[in-house]
Amino acid sequence: MSDVGALVYVVDDDASAREGVAGLIRSAGLMAKTFASAEEFLAARRPKIPSCLVLDVNLPGASGLDLQQELAKSDVQVPIIFLTGYGDIPMTVRAVKAGAVSFLTKPVDDEELLEAIRQCITSSKSAAMKEFPPFRLDDVNQCLWRRGETGPDERLQLTPKAFAVLSYLVEHAGRLVTQDELLDAIWPDTFIQPEVLKYQIADIRGVLEDDAKKPRFIETMHRRGYRFVAKVRDDERPESPVSAGATRARVVGRARELGELRTCLEKALRGEPQIVFITGEPGIGKTALVDEFVGQAVTEQPSLLVGRGQCVEGYGGTEPYYPMLEALGQLCRGPQGHRVVEILTAHAPTWLVQFPWLVTREQRQVLQQEILGATRDRMLREIHEVLDALKLQAPLLWVFEDLQWADPSTVDLISASARRRTTGKVLVIMTKRPMAMTTPNHPLHTLKSELLTHRLCREIALTPLSESAVTEYLRAESGGGTLPEGFAELIYRNTEGNPLFVMAALDHMTERGLIAREGGQWRVRVPVGEIEIGVPETLRHIIEAQIQHLTSEEQRALEVASVAGARFSAQAVAEAIEQDAEILEELFDELTHRSGMVRAAGSHQLADGKVLQVFEFVHVFYREVFYRRQTPAQRRVGQEPSSSETTRASSAAGIDVPVKAGSSNARRSARASPGSAGIRRPVRLQ
Ligand SMILES: Nc1ncnc2c1ncn2[C@@H]1O[C@H](COP(=O)(O)OP(=O)(O)OP(=O)(O)O)[C@@H](O)[C@H]1O
Ligand SMILES: [Mg+2]
Repeated sequence: MSDVGALVYVVDDDASAREGVAGLIRSAGLMAKTFASAEEFLAARRPKIPSCLVLDVNLPGASGLDLQQELAKSDVQVPIIFLTGYGDIPMTVRAVKAGAVSFLTKPVDDEELLEAIRQCITSSKSAAMKEFPPFRLDDVNQCLWRRGETGPDERLQLTPKAFAVLSYLVEHAGRLVTQDELLDAIWPDTFIQPEVLKYQIADIRGVLEDDAKKPRFIETMHRRGYRFVAKVRDDERPESPVSAGATRARVVGRARELGELRTCLEKALRGEPQIVFITGEPGIGKTALVDEFVGQAVTEQPSLLVGRGQCVEGYGGTEPYYPMLEALGQLCRGPQGHRVVEILTAHAPTWLVQFPWLVTREQRQVLQQEILGATRDRMLREIHEVLDALKLQAPLLWVFEDLQWADPSTVDLISASARRRTTGKVLVIMTKRPMAMTTPNHPLHTLKSELLTHRLCREIALTPLSESAVTEYLRAESGGGTLPEGFAELIYRNTEGNPLFVMAALDHMTERGLIAREGGQWRVRVPVGEIEIGVPETLRHIIEAQIQHLTSEEQRALEVASVAGARFSAQAVAEAIEQDAEILEELFDELTHRSGMVRAAGSHQLADGKVLQVFEFVHVFYREVFYRRQTPAQRRVGQEPSSSETTRASSAAGIDVPVKAGSSNARRSARASPGSAGIRRPVRLQ
C-alpha cells in the first residue's frame, strides 16, 4: 500500500499502542502522526491532504467519541477508525451513526487495520466531487446534483445500488467496464442476473436524461459492458452544495402542518415566543417537515438565524446540553457568527470553553481556571443570558431534533426557557418520537404534557401519509406522468403511508428489478399482483435497532409470535414456548404501549367461551424482521401444533377468525406467515 501523500493520524494515550500502530502504518508506506490526547490533536495544524484518523475511544480528558463530535461540529471531515478495548453496541452505533467508518476491537489485527485505513484514504481522496456538467456526483451525501441554470442546484436521488454503479463508471470514465467487473464490484458475493444491471443502467440514464442510442454519458458496448463517455473533472469547490433550497425534499401531504408552523413563525415574529413539538413514529417525516419549513422560512425571512441541534442516541447522559452546543456552534459559523462569539465571550465562559476552535490554547487554560467547579446551574444561568442577548440580534429559529434522547440538562433548559415567559422573536421547534417506544421514563415525557396543559407549547402529531399523498409523491417522482395501474395502491398497502417505508420499499423494488424509472417515469416490470415487498435492508437495520431496546424475553416472544401469524394471541405463543399465558399476555400488553411494533387487535372467543386478547404486528415489516432473525429450528417452535384442542386453530398459524377490532393490515395478511406459502415471496431476479 504505497500511498505517498496520505497521512494517518493516530490518537491513543497508551504510548506503546500508539507507536505500534504508527510503525505499522509507516511500514505500509504511509505517513503517520501521533497524538496522546484529543486536545492535542485538536490543537495541531493539519495539512489538507487525504487523511484518516485512527482513534482510541478511551482517552483521558475528552474521549474519542467527544473528539468525533467536536470534529463534526467544526466541519472537519476526516474518516475515523475507532479502536476500543470494550466495543459495546450503543457506542458503536453512535460512532457509526455520526460517520465513523470502522470500529475495531483491540487487540486489532494488523491486516484488518491496514485494510480499513486503505478504504478511508480512498474515500478521503474521492471526497472531492466528480463533475460532468451539468451533474456532480456527491460521494459524501450519496446523491447527484444538477446545476441550476438560474435557481439553486437540484438534488437528484438514485437508489444506493444505482449510485454505486454510476460512481464506479465515473471513477473509471473513458474505459470499457465489463458487465462482470461491475457485477463483482457492486454485488460482491451475490449472484445477480445481468438483467438487474440493465435495469440499474436504465434508471441512471433516466435520471441523467441520457439516450442509449445517442449517449452523452453512458455508452453501451454491445455484449461487453459500458463506458462513461462524458468528460469528468474534480469539482473542488470548498463550500458545501447544501443550500436550503437545494436539499429540500419534495414533501407531500403536509400542507396543514406547514401552515401551522407558519402561523407559529408569524406569532414569533410579532414578539411572542413559540414552542412546537413535532411528534410521530420513526420515519413518519418529522425531519422532512422541519427541513421543508426551515427552507421556506429562510427564503421568506432572510434575516432569520437558524440554530439546529440533534440529540444522539445512547449519548444523553454523558454530554450535558449537547443539542444546544451543536446549535450554538452552528450559529458561531453562520452569517452573524462574530456577534454570537462576542455574546458567548461576554456572558458565558462555561459555554465558550466548550468550543475549542473559538479560543486559543492559552485562553482555554485561563477559562478553565475561571470556571473551575462551575455547576450545571451556572451553565443554565449563562445560557439564558446568551439566549436573551441573541434575541436582540435577529429573529431566531431553534430546531432541536430527536428529543427522545435528550440529556437531562437539555430537558431542564427547555423547561426553564418555556416557563420564563419573556418576549422575543423566537420559535423553537423540537422533534421527538413517542417516548414510550424508546425511553419510557424520560423526563421530557412529563415536561411536554405539563407544557401542553399550561398552553406553553403546541404539538403537531404527524400521522401516516394518506393514499392520495403517496400517489402524489409517486406522481411527482414520475415527472407528473401517469402511474402504472395499481402501483400507488401497492406501495400504500405495503407501507401504510409511512414515508420512510415508502422510500425503502421503492429502493428495494428497484434494486430487485421489479420496478424502474425509465425516462423519469415509474415502470412496473412484473404484474403488480405478483409483487410482495420483503423487508428492505435499510429498514431492517432501523427495525433491528428498535428491537435492541427490548429485553431478550420480549424479543423471543415476538419472534415466536411472528411465526404464529400477523395476528396472534398470548395463549398461542405461550403454548409454543411452554410459558404462562397470563404472563405473556401482560408482556404483549406492555409492548403495545411501549414498543411501537405490536398493537391490540380486539379479542377472540374460543369454542369453550374463553376470550383471548388478540395482538397484531403494527406493520408487516416488523413481523418479517422478527421472523427472519430465527433459525429454522427456532421457527419450528412457533409452528408446533398446539396440545390444546381449543387453541389449535390459533397457535400454529395465528388467529384466523373475525376480530372485533383491528387494522386492515392485519386482516389482509393474518394467515400469511413469511415462511409459509401464505405470503408470496418477492419475484426474484437475482
Ligand atoms: N411528507 C413527505 N413527503 C415526501 N417524503 C417524505 C415526507 N416525509 C418524509 N419523507 C421522506 O421519508 C424519509 C423519512 O422521513 P424523516 O427522516 O423525516 O422521518 P423522521 O420522522 O424524522 O424519522 P426519525 O424518527 O427516524 O427521525 C425521508 O427520506 C424523507 O425525505
Ligand atoms: Mg428525524
